[in-house]
Amino acid sequence: MIGIDDLALATGAYRIDLAAVAERLGTDPAKYYKGLGQTEMSVIAEDEDIVTLGAAAALPVLERAGRDQIRTVLFATETGIDQSKAAGVYAHRLLGLSPNVRVVELKQACYSGTAALQFAAALVARNPAEKVLVIASDVARYELGSSAEPTQGAGAAAFTVSADPALLALEPAAGLFTADVMDFWRPNHRVTAIVDGQSSITAYLEAIGGAFTDYRAQGGADFAAIDRFCYHQPFTKMASKAHRYLAQRAGSTLDAAALAAQVDPTMAYNRRIGNSYTASVYLALLALLDGEADLTGERVAIASYGSGAVAEFLTGTVVEGYREGLRTATNEQILADRPQISDDTYLARQRTMPRTDPSDYTNRHETRAPFRFAGVREDQRIYEPTS
Ligand code: CAA
Repeated sequence: MIGIDDLALATGAYRIDLAAVAERLGTDPAKYYKGLGQTEMSVIAEDEDIVTLGAAAALPVLERAGRDQIRTVLFATETGIDQSKAAGVYAHRLLGLSPNVRVVELKQACYSGTAALQFAAALVARNPAEKVLVIASDVARYELGSSAEPTQGAGAAAFTVSADPALLALEPAAGLFTADVMDFWRPNHRVTAIVDGQSSITAYLEAIGGAFTDYRAQGGADFAAIDRFCYHQPFTKMASKAHRYLAQRAGSTLDAAALAAQVDPTMAYNRRIGNSYTASVYLALLALLDGEADLTGERVAIASYGSGAVAEFLTGTVVEGYREGLRTATNEQILADRPQISDDTYLARQRTMPRTDPSDYTNRHETRAPFRFAGVREDQRIYEPTS
């Protein structure tokens, strides 16, 4: 029985209410609140990035489990900070891991956290004494004023994969789907992603549908035998759309309320964090586990999508006693503690990126997270503990 042993989150220091963005763009806030299913988005402090977010998410996981069993760190991101060096190597030092660890970065848009989960499971199958640390961390940025702007966000999920998981035991079947489409991408010279919004929705649905068909062909459970569904959530309404699409494709007879009950409890964190790309589907899983329902023994699907496009559909069962491994109150506190910033403050932050002095600059000390990105000296990124 291999699966997810522990799972924690981190997010940006601040939040902006999407009503403020709607006002500037002359849009009805209901379009964002109801139409996209998003109320807020996280905004990072000047001294935060994917490394500090990822390390912050991983710290409580390591503090609980210890560091000795970790021999691999897989860092999934689509907002990489270096063309060569893996972001996970910085996190490895900040987290005080042993030198006898392999660290690598994985990229395929929002999907690569799930590739990391599968690679981790394979490593644990080879040596059940090991735990693999997976970090999925991203800062989502689109052009200011574009229709994608309200679907930005920032967040990280960190989880360990082990042979005796406390949260979710993975089932063997996995459905895969890849198609070369240009729905969303970010060329090396750009800070913001290029996206064809409406076609990205179609590409997402077709890829998830294709992955589910393959999952069934690989011996996966019937749609009716899956209790809950965690979808990648670029905005939470996308999960509702995907679930209705999959239900119809699978010939489900469930009514709208029953379908909503399978997916709505996965949205609580992403609705407030915004798109966290690779982390998003794992934040959906965390919200589900942290929710009120007792999920013991339930079969949960992870439906992962990364533009470009790759999708994977897999399932696991919730382990008895899983609630003892949760940090529900801490997670709520992390979200509640983010001060709200005005649209002007948010705009000023977004406009200072990219830096005009990218090879050498100092960041103001803003973050309250355990690690900070202090700046760049002679093209080297400087990370340090906050205290
Ligand atoms: N009150 C309530 N609802 C309203 C409303 C109002 N006043 N006005 C509009 N709406 C509804 C619309 O009816 C629509 O709902 P349905 O789709 O259920 O019909 C919803 O609000 C959104 O409206 P539009 O489709 O008109 O929105 P848009 O075209 O301006 O932008 C978007 C939406 C295309 C998702 C855009 O935000 C975007 O490009 N986002 C980035 C791309 C993205 O997230 N794609 C998702 C799939 S790709 C992926 O998942 C990878 C990834 O992470 C990026």
